[in-house]
Formats: sequence, structure tokens, C-alpha cells
Amino acid sequence: MTEHVYSRGKVKDVLVIDDDATDRMAIRRALSRPPHEINVFEAATGDEAARMLSERGFDCIFLDYRLPDMDGITFLKRFYDIDTDLAPSPVVMLTGQGSEGVMTDALRWGAHDYIIKDNISADSIVIALAKAREIYELRLNRMHAEEKLRHAQKMDAVGQLTSGIAHDFNNLLTVILGNTHLLMRKMQNLSNAEATAMISPKVEAIETAARKGADLVRHLMVFTRQRELKEEIIVLNSCINSTIGLLRRTLGERVEIDAKLAEDTWPVCIDVNLFENALINIAVNARDAMPKGGKIWISTQNVNVDDEYTRVHPDMSADNYVMVSISDSGTGMPEEVRQRIFEPFYTTKPAGEGTGLGLSMVYGFIKQSGGHVQVESELGQGTTFHIYLPRHTSPAANV
Ligand SMILES: Nc1ncnc2c1ncn2[C@@H]1O[C@H](COP(=O)(O)OP(=O)(O)OP(=O)(O)O)[C@@H](O)[C@H]1O
Ligand SMILES: [Mg+2]
Repeated sequence: MTEHVYSRGKVKDVLVIDDDATDRMAIRRALSRPPHEINVFEAATGDEAARMLSERGFDCIFLDYRLPDMDGITFLKRFYDIDTDLAPSPVVMLTGQGSEGVMTDALRWGAHDYIIKDNISADSIVIALAKAREIYELRLNRMHAEEKLRHAQKMDAVGQLTSGIAHDFNNLLTVILGNTHLLMRKMQNLSNAEATAMISPKVEAIETAARKGADLVRHLMVFTRQRELKEEIIVLNSCINSTIGLLRRTLGERVEIDAKLAEDTWPVCIDVNLFENALINIAVNARDAMPKGGKIWISTQNVNVDDEYTRVHPDMSADNYVMVSISDSGTGMPEEVRQRIFEPFYTTKPAGEGTGLGLSMVYGFIKQSGGHVQVESELGQGTTFHIYLPRHTSPAANV
């Protein structure tokens, strides 16, 4: 997938691809002066522009349909990303005669607006720039929203499947453990000591394996939200502070922990044990991502998620939350790993070192608590988890 270099907010850099110096000058004049003060970069051929685009991003591109080495549509096709239905930046096509075919093609291949060259003016340039960026931003938002929705649906499907398996597996383990206990009791009454000595380690081995299986199922049940929560109303700081104490003792000296906890965070209603487990799981992963040591930052703050935010994050609901953020200075992870980290049994650790259940428990616990979790990660730059837990309001406070 093409990386979208588009940055929201103020337009800083624009690229004009046109072999006609007069047109380039018209655009430069319209955009570089106050109040716009935009840096205007110029390319006279498609190849030159392609080189510039491979080196850096632009907030918008003005693209002439007729270039000496190729036509504008061929140029657009090179950069158009079929998966996202987007060019890497908003594009305004400049056309000589305004042929309908050219314009339709341009819009089909990722342009967002066009100007007919005969009508070129400072106003038409500024308006086309704003319009192209607005359309581009809408598409980008839609794309992100669709991605998030797909991910949430996938996690639900994995959850349902896991839930069925965990349930059936639990029933089998109950039968195995029940019969093992019966066997053990019966063996105590046997007169043949030699036979008992021979059999009892085997029965104990069965019991140990079945108990491990039961632990695994318990972890899976946190992911599938079937664990009964022991919820209480608390302010997170004291619970986070005591977990940090535990982490400092267990993660070793090479991991520094820095906490910035807001004084006035709202109360939340959660299962404290599972919350502490979630923090520990995230911090242990952070340690594993920092083999030479590093830093973990933990912070809390109150946040209000409004309708505008949920349009881009449809997996979240508008509410007041206490947000707990945990960042590390570790290796970070590539996008294809980040997409999968909450799936049960997904691990990149060598066989025997990770079960891949740590984060699926974090996910299940947070969802069951009415919260959300977001992960930002960049290779070489570290990782941040944002956990949103809904603000608890007592019924009296709602009156
Ligand atoms: N802070 C992090 N930095 C880099 N990668 C991470 C980070 N946290 C998680 N990951 C990636 O996510 C994967 C899944 O994490 P998860 O905690 O679910 O399982 P695990 O740590 O591999 O095994 P387990 O926690 O069950 O022992 C990890 O294997 C790792 O690739
Ligand atoms: Mg883990």
C-alpha cells in the first residue's frame, strides 16, 4: 500500500508539474504570496516529477494533462493506489480544452479536481487546491474508518470462534481433571505399593497437563469476554503506582520507568486484577522489545471522545474516558504485525517463549470493561498503547 504523506492542517508544499512556464508562474504567484505563503516546487516533465515524488511528499499536486514525456493520466496511474483508491497527495489536473473524457479519466485515476487552462486565475487555483484537499481528506477518513471497522469485525469473528473452542475444551478438561482426582484418591487405598508408585507419577503428569490446559482456557476466556469481572470503582493512580513498583522490581535495572499521572482522573469501574495484568503484559512486551534496555513511559489523562472523532474511529463510542498511555523506546513493529497483535496465539517470539495470549487478554478485558485500545508503532521508534476506560458516573451524578 502506498504511504500517504498527506498532512492535515496548513498547506506547506505544493508541486506543479507543467512544461508551460507561464502556467507554472501563475500558480506560483497565486500560492506563494500572503496569505497563503506556500512553497511551490516545479517540474517540467513527468520523469522529473516522479523523481521528486519518490524523494518526498507534497500537500497537493497541480498536474498538466499534456507533458512532453507522457500524458497526465499515465502519470496518475503510476502513483494511484488501487487498494485505497487514492493518489499519494491531492491532485488538481490542468487541462487545455476541458474535454469531458480527460476529466472523467483524471478523476477516475485519483485526481480530485481540475482547472481548464483558459480559466486559470489566482482564485480558481486557490479554490481548486482547497477543494482537492477537502475531497482527499474525506476519502482518507473513509479509508481509515473502513480499515478500523474491518479490524473490529475480524476480532469479533475470531472471538466467536475462540469462545466456542474454549467452552468445549473447558468441558473436556473438567472431565479429565475430575477423573484424575478420582484415580488419585482410589490409588491411595490400593494395597499394591509397587503398582501405585509406578502409576502415580503418570497420573500426576496428566493432572499437571490438564491444569495447564485449564489456565490456557482461563486466559482465552478473558479474550472472549466470558470471564466474570470483579469490578470496583477506583481512581487508577494508586493501582498504577503499585503496579509500577512491581514492574521496577521485576523488569530489571535496564528498563527505566517514567510515570506522569494526572491528579484529577475520573473514577472508573474495572476489575483491578485484570487491569494490573494488562499493564504487566504490555510492560513485559515492552521489555522484550528493548533487549539492550530502554524506557517505558506511563501516563494518565481524562479525554472526551466526541462524535467527530468516532467518525474516523468507528470502533470507538463517544464518551468520557480515562486514557492510560504506555510507550516504550523499543524496536517498534511493522504494520503487518501491529494489525495482528491482539489475535490469540499470535506471537513473533521463538517457539516456547511466547504463547501469544498476553495482548489478546488485554484486548478482551478492555472491551469487556466498555473501553478501547489503540496502538501506534513505528519500526525503530518504539510503540505506544492507549487504553481508554470509560468514566464511571454514579447514578446520582446523572440526575
Ligand atoms: N511493545 C512492543 N514492541 C514491539 N512488538 C510488540 C510489542 N508488544 C507486542 N508486540 C508484538 O506483539 C506480539 C504479541 O504479543 P503478545 O503479548 O500477545 O504475545 P507474546 O508476548 O508474543 O507472548 P505472551 O505474552 O503470551 O508470552 C509479540 O510477539 C510482538 O511481536
Ligand atoms: Mg506478551
